[in-house]
Amino acid sequence: MDKIVSLCKRRGLVFPGSEIYGGLANSWDYGPLGHLLKQNIKKAWWRFFVQERADMVPLDSAIIMNPKAWEASGHLQNFNDLLVECKKCHHRFRADHLLEMNSLEPGHDKEQPKTISELVCPDCEGALTEPKNFNQMLKTFLGPTEDSSTVAYLRPETAGGMFVNFKNILNVTRRRLPFGIAQIGKCFRNEITPGNFIFRTKEFEIGELEYFINPKDWEKVFEMWLSEIKRWWQDIMQVNMDHLIWHEIPDGERAHYSKRTVDIEYQYPFGVKELHGIAYRTDFDLSRHQAVSGQDLQYTDPETGEKFLPHVIEPTFGMDRMMLVCLLEAYHEEEAPTAKDGETETRVVMKFPKNLAPIQVAVLPLSKKEELATIAEPLAAELRQNFSVDYDETQSIGKRYRRQDEVGTPYCVTVDFETLEDRAVTVRDRDTMKQERIKIAELGDYLQGKF
Ligand code: GAP
Repeated sequence: MDKIVSLCKRRGLVFPGSEIYGGLANSWDYGPLGHLLKQNIKKAWWRFFVQERADMVPLDSAIIMNPKAWEASGHLQNFNDLLVECKKCHHRFRADHLLEMNSLEPGHDKEQPKTISELVCPDCEGALTEPKNFNQMLKTFLGPTEDSSTVAYLRPETAGGMFVNFKNILNVTRRRLPFGIAQIGKCFRNEITPGNFIFRTKEFEIGELEYFINPKDWEKVFEMWLSEIKRWWQDIMQVNMDHLIWHEIPDGERAHYSKRTVDIEYQYPFGVKELHGIAYRTDFDLSRHQAVSGQDLQYTDPETGEKFLPHVIEPTFGMDRMMLVCLLEAYHEEEAPTAKDGETETRVVMKFPKNLAPIQVAVLPLSKKEELATIAEPLAAELRQNFSVDYDETQSIGKRYRRQDEVGTPYCVTVDFETLEDRAVTVRDRDTMKQERIKIAELGDYLQGKF
């Protein structure tokens, strides 16, 4: 983790939030390359789960909703965690996270201490207070006065916006079951436990699908989504599938309304923890919104005339956790040959899936000489029409290759003095380090083929 965090800062992927003011707990900013990487993950997710499917419709709902929506969803009453405080250093912790920290070390056994009272403060070993309830919803006030009538909340998940718009979407799209609503958006939770980099933050992005079904179909639809999720991790994110754990949540541990939940967990360097999940939420959400709003949210089957509240299967993904997994999977240290015969050095290379890499192509003129720039600059400008391109002319070519390896650029295009004669460039592959001579006129098609 330390290597990843330091690489992310050094290369502009992720910076500590508000760093010049000493930072803010569990807050991080995505730098230039981090923005690109996260954007690429979101685009790939959207394409895979929404754009390429005939049964999904998109939505972009408000972050601040009528507070009654959170009353209906149960968040105001139940989105609580138990908080304990150290009597000596006054650091605060979530009781469930302290229990987890003490049991879920890498290669853990799931043997847990029986109660929180058996634990001490992980920072100073002081005694802990009795656990107290606290609500994780982030509160604000709307308008000029701050009282109970103006309280509003920043959404802790995107799901609510999709449920309250169910009838609107049904009316405008005339969809038949099964169909889904999808959105990606910022969410906010008052997290107090140390976050393990971008694993747990106060604001983060969720990509969520609410898939509306006739309840008789739930088992086969759940299996369909599980296999789509597997395909996503295997084909698009290209993770080592041995690093994922498919945790079937047993009876008694699921939310009261869920008939089946699978947590997809990952072997992080700090332990096995949740990456994302899929839950069969029955008609819990629509029935609660129907009861609290007084609006009829039922669906009428056009063939049978049957009127009922659809049930929901909800695959949910944390975009920031996906980015963390992408970084962890990509990180490699390898021995690579240097310019000196027979000598090697360690190279750090981020082997991102090519379509997710923040920079796809680097254009590297061998020297800063004007004659090379007159070819390299227009070449980079042309490539920018289709690829994310970096242009780098400083330091030795070997150092520039290492810099591009460290941010996972799949292809480096070198313009050298021979280019002036043969109108060709050298293309170097990030993973094999093999180099090929390609005619400039054919370079665009060659690279398109590679992606
Ligand atoms: N609508 C269901 C829902 O919100 P959740 O498990 O509470 O479920 C969904 O959250 C996903 O959001 C998680 O699986 C995780 O990937 C991500 N997530 C939750 N809390 C987070 C946090 N504090 N920081 C970063 N990601 C978080």
